[in-house]
Amino acid sequence: MCRHNCFFYGLLAKHNIVSLLVDCCSDGDNHTRNSACFAIGNVAYHNDFFYEELRRCIPKLANLLLSEEELDRTKINASGALSNLVRHSNKFCHDMVSKGAMLALLKLVEDHSVVAPNSSWCESPPKVALLALDKMCVHTSFRQFVRASDQYSLIETLCESEDEMIAKHASNIIKRTSQS
Ligand SMILES: *[C@@H]1O[C@H](CO)[C@@H](O)[C@H](O)[C@H]1NC(C)=O
Ligand SMILES: *[C@@H]1O[C@H](CO)[C@@H](O)[C@H](O)[C@H]1NC(C)=O
Ligand SMILES: *[C@@H]1O[C@H](CO)[C@@H](O)[C@H](O)[C@H]1NC(C)=O
Repeated sequence: MCRHNCFFYGLLAKHNIVSLLVDCCSDGDNHTRNSACFAIGNVAYHNDFFYEELRRCIPKLANLLLSEEELDRTKINASGALSNLVRHSNKFCHDMVSKGAMLALLKLVEDHSVVAPNSSWCESPPKVALLALDKMCVHTSFRQFVRASDQYSLIETLCESEDEMIAKHASNIIKRTSQS
């Protein structure tokens, strides 16, 4: 319902739905967790109306990225949701770092070697993590975090990846982070 525009945001607010979505990120059922991540990505995409209510999901999304049993598509939807949470403001720049979300995205990139070359982006959590980091690096504090991370040299080597999408986003990240 929130994929195309924010038409339903008012109704979601009236019925307190967003707080339930955040709870569903740690539901016992894997499909519920995936759908919650997808929905949160959409309620964070169009504007920052729900940002404050979504603050609580940042550590939950970070945990999903790091869980070995989690479905790939949940990791993909969680990565997208994290980048949408800094799309309209920098109010979560501190939480993203302190709640482990930035580190979790960087750790996910480390799994790039299991990615089939030129596979579709929607099959590959490491690719989507790299895309999310690229988008997030519009913020100075994230550029500094990435620049100082253990994964920085890996991202440098990924600029030469045979996979077009990995090479493109790795290069963008290096470009952004070497500016300031
Ligand atoms: C996801 O949940 C379903 C149903 O609860 C279960 O059968 C399946 O094994 C789970 N998948 C994974 C990868 O954990
Ligand atoms: C994200 O979740 C939605 C809803 O469950 C699903 O349709 C979509 O395929 C998922 N995204 C990816 C990239 O798997
Ligand atoms: C991936 O696609 C690019 C562009 O189409 C191509 O140059 C490259 O060789 C492909 N890599 C592999 C490993 O197939």
